[in-house]
Amino acid sequence: MTTAAAALPLLGLRITAGPVELRGVTDDLLGPMAQLAIDGIHDPDFMPFATPWSLAPAEDLPRSMAQFHWGSRSRFTVEKWSADLAAFYEGELVGSQGISTSDYLVTRTGETGSWLARKFQGRGIGTAMRKVMCAFVFDHLDAESITSAAYDDNPASLGVSRKVGYTENGTERRNRMGKPVTLVRLLLEPGDFKRYEHPLTVEGLSEFRRSIGLDADGR
Ligand SMILES: CC(C)(COP(=O)(O)OP(=O)(O)OC[C@H]1O[C@@H](n2cnc3c(N)ncnc32)[C@H](O)[C@@H]1OP(=O)(O)O)[C@@H](O)C(=O)NCCC(=O)NCCS
Repeated sequence: MTTAAAALPLLGLRITAGPVELRGVTDDLLGPMAQLAIDGIHDPDFMPFATPWSLAPAEDLPRSMAQFHWGSRSRFTVEKWSADLAAFYEGELVGSQGISTSDYLVTRTGETGSWLARKFQGRGIGTAMRKVMCAFVFDHLDAESITSAAYDDNPASLGVSRKVGYTENGTERRNRMGKPVTLVRLLLEPGDFKRYEHPLTVEGLSEFRRSIGLDADGR
């Protein structure tokens, strides 16, 4: 049967490692992911994201969540692709773990980004899902480095990066909702990577690799 994953292999990607599963965001997951965001990701007076999407009124979040993923699907190209995956822990949807790239065939790097519904935070799940994404990108997509970034007042995100092995790679002054804030840039190189204790199993890998231009022309 031809499925949506035939058009966009991202949708058929399924990465599992112990209790963690990262899966392409098919349409059936959009509503449940919006519900997690409605339930709450952070305090209203603290903004961890560059785009303050999580402050949208509850009635608008299902549409904005869906449009974010549909938009990202529609813009998916070899030159510029993102894989914002649904994250499950012990079978329960908990949030999202993503990676964004630009000219990946040349740069062999990508930037990780993630969020968890508040009730799942502070239990090591953010560290586990980031380790799974980094192992996937290094071991299965032939990456040579991975970056991340977090505002300097986000100890949870910086804590995950430290535990996974990223090192600080400079700071930038940014505008966060009209106020200045320091963004800490982070870099993970393969030799510094602190791996997850569970091995990865990947479904849909060969299709996904082809969709990002790997395995074509002997690359
Ligand atoms: C950032 C996020 C994904 C981290 O996931 P998490 O599961 O909460 O983090 P972990 O439990 O794996 O914690 C990682 C480390 O950070 C530390 N940490 C976590 N929350 C912390 C907090 N509020 N204050 C201080 N340290 C904290 C933990 O202690 C842990 O280190 P330790 O094991 O040495 O104690 C999650 O908190 C989240 O979704 N936050 C809101 C959205 C967000 O900030 N996204 C990232 C934008 S850059």
